[in-house]
Amino acid sequence: MIPVEVEAPTYRVQEHHAFEASGQRFLYLVPSGAIFALTPIGREILDLVAHEQLDRTTLVRRLLDRGHQPGDIRTGLHELEEARALSEGPAQRELPKVPARAFPLQRIVLNVTNQCNLACGYCYEYSDDKISKTSGKPKYMDQKVAEDSVDLLFAEAGDHPSVHVTFFGGETLLNFPLLRSTVTYAQQRAREARKKIEFSLTTNATLLTEEVADFLAEHRIGVTVSIDGDRELNDRMRVFHDGRGSYNVIVPKIRMLLERHKTNSIGARVTLSAGVGQVRRIYEHLTQEVGFRAVGFSPATANPDRLYSIGPQKMSSVLGGFEDLALEYRDYALAGRTHGFTNANDTLKELHTGLSKAYPCGAGLGLLGVGTAGDISLCHRFVDSDVGKMGHVQNGGVDHAARQDFLQTHHLGHRVDCHSCWARPVCAGGCYHEAFIHYGDTSAATLHYCDWIRGWNDLCLKIYGEISVHNPAFLNRFDSN
Ligand SMILES: C[S@@+](CC[C@H](N)C(=O)[O-])C[C@H]1O[C@@H](n2cnc3c(N)ncnc32)[C@H](O)[C@@H]1O
Ligand code: SF4
Ligand code: SF4
Repeated sequence: MIPVEVEAPTYRVQEHHAFEASGQRFLYLVPSGAIFALTPIGREILDLVAHEQLDRTTLVRRLLDRGHQPGDIRTGLHELEEARALSEGPAQRELPKVPARAFPLQRIVLNVTNQCNLACGYCYEYSDDKISKTSGKPKYMDQKVAEDSVDLLFAEAGDHPSVHVTFFGGETLLNFPLLRSTVTYAQQRAREARKKIEFSLTTNATLLTEEVADFLAEHRIGVTVSIDGDRELNDRMRVFHDGRGSYNVIVPKIRMLLERHKTNSIGARVTLSAGVGQVRRIYEHLTQEVGFRAVGFSPATANPDRLYSIGPQKMSSVLGGFEDLALEYRDYALAGRTHGFTNANDTLKELHTGLSKAYPCGAGLGLLGVGTAGDISLCHRFVDSDVGKMGHVQNGGVDHAARQDFLQTHHLGHRVDCHSCWARPVCAGGCYHEAFIHYGDTSAATLHYCDWIRGWNDLCLKIYGEISVHNPAFLNRFDSN
């Protein structure tokens, strides 16, 4: 037999995004979504491997020549290989897998009404971008549909120890009686099923009363209040049907809610649009003047032709505002204090958890939406639309074939544009609704947001690095849940 000379495999640095924080180099490892702090020898190894193809023997010889001890070299190499920052053989691009069919349901969002007492200019439920078809559907969900939805949640939750019900609308509190009776019913079902249950709702706050606030407090219901800033900014878009602004009506009610409800979080949700992008002004008003301890921002989803569409230029100024608040968040974190900018908190938590997502969010995965007639959909934004239909709570329950088909066709693997992007573990291609409104296709990647997403995640990685160097104990808060 002729001896075959086999070449030793050379080292490759695996796919990553490098960043510096507090004078230290970190790698964000794309396949795993892990953050790795490089030691001085680790940094040297990666620099050597990045510039030259080196097999193990040659690499070790180089490091010995540079005066490193064999034990340090072994440890340095081992750490990099363990983290999968470095491996022998060709560089590989890894994508997460499509989940197994029986993925447990963890949350349902009940659109308890499709009616609203406001007429916010950007609202995807009533604007020109509306995709829900509500004609012929009940205006209000009835008790039977709500209870069947809760039953379905427990039936589909499998072994999962906790479930969550979110109440949504239209204006959610227009159907407060149903919300109240559904909470009681779901708590009873949770006791029988020996599962933990949590509730939340999103509201425009116009219908809050002391009775409502006390009920929400008693049942520890998390509340998201939609408000877009001070009177001038909020009233640009969040108006009644006669055009009157909602600010004067909601602010006293919000203060009353904050005063009476202290058993769960109450956060403000700001929808940014063309005329409403002043991030710091809005944040300071909502925390200092209104009294919120948590404020989150989200740009309005809109066809680019809409006048209120936020557009790329405005988005870059919004990123500036996000950066400003995120750096303040960092300063608070270094001093061991809590800051209320939830966008920073949520991204840091995601980065800390180190997930590598195959899907941008839980829609169709652990979360489903239910319309007033009991139709199940991908999420609350697709309720009663022709897209993302996934069964009916009374007629056959979850359409598992449709759900699995959606998960197959919307897996990151099909968002080819994202395969070479380092932000894909956290972004996974972006919101399906955003994609549908922009490109008419839920499976398109939201490429109009890429610079923004990468800029924001790069900033949060640096902040994460700084916190991990100067106050690592702060990060423990992200371990729970
Ligand atoms: C549709 S509303 C339903 C609950 C309730 N009526 C409220 O306003 O909170 C839920 C949230 O969606 C936000 N929203 C409405 N239209 C939007 C859009 N086009 N893009 C992004 N968020 C939007 C609202 O500002 C609100 O915070
Ligand atoms: S209050 Fe909520 S549902 Fe009503 S129009 Fe405004 S955003 Fe839409
Ligand atoms: S949508 Fe853009 S930022 Fe998000 S993963 Fe795809 S390429 Fe990256």
